[in-house]
Amino acid sequence: MLLDRQIPSLNPRFAIFFACGVALLLFAIYHITLYTEHGPFYKGNVGSRVGSHAPASEPKTAVSQPNQPKPKPTLEETIRELFAPIKHKDFVSSFTDPTGTVYTHNNNIWTEPLGKDLLIVDVDTRYPEQMFDPSKRVDWEHLDTDNLVTEAVFNHYLYATIHNYSYLFYRPIPVPGHHKTWPKVHSISNLLPQYKFVVFLDADATIRHLHLPFEWLLNRWNVTRRTSFTMARDPLDDDCNLCDKYGTAMVNTGFVIAQNLPYTREIMDVWMACTAGGTRYGAECGKWKEEWAHEQSVFSDYLRYDYNPEGDNIRELNCGEANGFPGHGWYDPVDCNGKFIRHHTFVKDRTKTTTSEAIMQAFIDIMKTNFAKVGGDIVVSEEKEKKKATPKPEVKQEEDKEGEKAHEQAHNRRSAIWHEPLKRSEVS
Ligand SMILES: *[C@@H]1O[C@H](CO)[C@@H](O)[C@H](O)[C@H]1NC(C)=O
Ligand SMILES: *[C@@H]1O[C@H](CO)[C@@H](O)[C@H](O)[C@H]1NC(C)=O
Repeated sequence: MLLDRQIPSLNPRFAIFFACGVALLLFAIYHITLYTEHGPFYKGNVGSRVGSHAPASEPKTAVSQPNQPKPKPTLEETIRELFAPIKHKDFVSSFTDPTGTVYTHNNNIWTEPLGKDLLIVDVDTRYPEQMFDPSKRVDWEHLDTDNLVTEAVFNHYLYATIHNYSYLFYRPIPVPGHHKTWPKVHSISNLLPQYKFVVFLDADATIRHLHLPFEWLLNRWNVTRRTSFTMARDPLDDDCNLCDKYGTAMVNTGFVIAQNLPYTREIMDVWMACTAGGTRYGAECGKWKEEWAHEQSVFSDYLRYDYNPEGDNIRELNCGEANGFPGHGWYDPVDCNGKFIRHHTFVKDRTKTTTSEAIMQAFIDIMKTNFAKVGGDIVVSEEKEKKKATPKPEVKQEEDKEGEKAHEQAHNRRSAIWHEPLKRSEVS
């Protein structure tokens, strides 16, 4: 046979030597792969990647090596740890807000944590340099309305991290010939295939209760396994300023929950194609390219009426659940004050206050939880101290001298500290 002739006859000793060599080589390669990126002992990149779908930040517990110092927790892990004591404990039990108002629901649709399958996303062509550029300062006191995006990233990222959801700041390509609010639609569409839920928030929309899981909200809002879209209605004022063509309050696209379902894809395709005139809504839809309320009108005027065959494919929330804020003439009379999501459409600079309040409330709750446990350690009552006080034991002469010396040394140290800056100020 041809094959036979091509293999030269091997010296048996050489063959054994050769086989040993190959075995050694394979053994070496196996060990090297153990420590490379896909190997189980790989150590690199355990750090943080904001918004990664696969949770790169989770510690790899599979390989526990003794004598190895514990890896420093990532920022995400630290945030989760910090907020753990105040996180609402489940997705069903009643929730009491700081004012004492109790919110309940009777749904138990979402029982498992969605984790990284839920994406919180900011979509913006504006880039919050002061948040992401190391050479720029972020000055919270002097943020103005132009810095809405910074506030949004702060609030939305923090919320996502506390609950182990994915987070992304998505920079879309503008839609040619369309108003700047349009890119949110194709952005949600681009991202949806990688997640179970995409939750989009406008830069002026703030999550109020940082410790309340989104699964709890999905249950409260009766978002079922076939609900493609969930949005809150706009307030219905006397002049119907925020109405669709039928005189019904629009749904507001400042807060959109999209579920990854085939039917959602279908709705999204019509939503994106509508202004080109080729859908069942004809050329009329073209006016929403630039005319207010843009993509919101396409959804409010057409889609919500035609793509809700089972009644829960599109969920419209009452205005107050996830829209509005206190103190506006259109919102107050209809109790639309942003119980869970505040949306500051008409008074954008209120966003900063709401963002601050949300984080301050959470932080003070964290401290309060701890103080309620260990309060005795830091609270000193003079009256109680006095009662406890026992007569001072006699101080020996020598000990007294020691004390005097220590006192003098401490005083000298203090003087030295204060001396320094004084010297410097003399120079300037
Ligand atoms: C975060 O979610 C992922 C799945 O989405 C899960 O594997 C991981 O254990 C979760 N981490 C925490 C700290 O809950
Ligand atoms: C939730 O939605 C389902 C489907 O539309 C409906 O049958 C059910 O009554 C709703 N539950 C509540 C509490 O509204």
